[in-house]
Amino acid sequence: MTLTRSLAAKYYTDPQVFEIERTGVLSQTWQFACHVSDIANPGDYHAFDLAGESLFCVRGRDGVIRTFYNVCQHRAHQLVQGSGNTRVVVCPYHAWTYELTGQMRAGPNVKSVEGFNTADICLTGVRTEEFLGFVFVNLDPNAKPMEDWFPNARAELEQWVPNWAALKPLEWVEIPERCNWKVSVENYSECYHCSLNHPTFATGVVKPETYDIQPEGKILRHRTECQNLDAMTYDIHSGFDHWNEYSSWFLWPMFSFQVYPGNVLNTYHWRAIDADHVVVWRGWYSVDGAESETVRKLAIQDRETTVEEDIHLVESVQRGLKSRGYVPGPLVVDPKCGVNSEHSILHLQRWMRDAVDGGAAQ
Ligand code: FES
Ligand SMILES: [Fe+2]
Repeated sequence: MTLTRSLAAKYYTDPQVFEIERTGVLSQTWQFACHVSDIANPGDYHAFDLAGESLFCVRGRDGVIRTFYNVCQHRAHQLVQGSGNTRVVVCPYHAWTYELTGQMRAGPNVKSVEGFNTADICLTGVRTEEFLGFVFVNLDPNAKPMEDWFPNARAELEQWVPNWAALKPLEWVEIPERCNWKVSVENYSECYHCSLNHPTFATGVVKPETYDIQPEGKILRHRTECQNLDAMTYDIHSGFDHWNEYSSWFLWPMFSFQVYPGNVLNTYHWRAIDADHVVVWRGWYSVDGAESETVRKLAIQDRETTVEEDIHLVESVQRGLKSRGYVPGPLVVDPKCGVNSEHSILHLQRWMRDAVDGGAAQ
């Protein structure tokens, strides 16, 4: 058996590698855009950045959510900023207007131009899918649907979070980290560091000896039994199945659904800024977005413990990856898997390496 070494430092530090990722994997995978409740009504829009592009989602009069590159098809001015509601999309430069379907509707004096046909002009659309109330986009027009990438995740999550359709975001916690996105994602994807670094999580939430992470399609599926449900800091009796479990579905490359005991949904998503910076968002949800002391407390506890503990780890790793003294060490891959094994990192780094060096995007 040959040892598998961790990825070479350049994958995490080289701006050229990041550029390959930006135009490659980050533009060819399903990425979080917003929650459906952010654009609940026809005409609601939400602009966001992804892989160096400005995009916006908008809900049409037909109720369908569409996503477009945020650029006018006249002379390239940006169309919208932030969030809001509009009847039609009006470009601030020369007032060309577009329907919510992206179709050009009118422009000052365009009728004077022989052969100018507004029907020929349309905003450039982006593949969009709704996934349990979350809007995901993929800049690759030929991308396979999410179901192909993440087999079974939707069906499973519907069982773990039966009330998903009623949930709305209550709180977003933004966590800028001075590290490469892959350092942060790897940190999320193994629990070899948990017992030493996450005392609250490892002794309060999960039973480490039952923790395991396995690939399923492009999911890394975390499963564990819980330690001591009586010691939890909140009331966990929700009346749903799986109420006494902790589970998580990491959807390659930058999103994760987590379900805590009591069927409490929370999410992670990452946005890569450059080779050395990533922003992590923790999402917390409640029925109708109603105030919930339980969820607020959980968000605070999580921010003060697991999240805080991980920031120091990942930022130290990023500094270490720039050291001339670093030689990538062997991954600790236990054939029996389990909490103290890095088999999940083996899979993840295979996907990461393929994304930069070739190999299929999926
Ligand atoms: S650039 Fe949009 S109307 Fe001219
Ligand atoms: Fe961690």
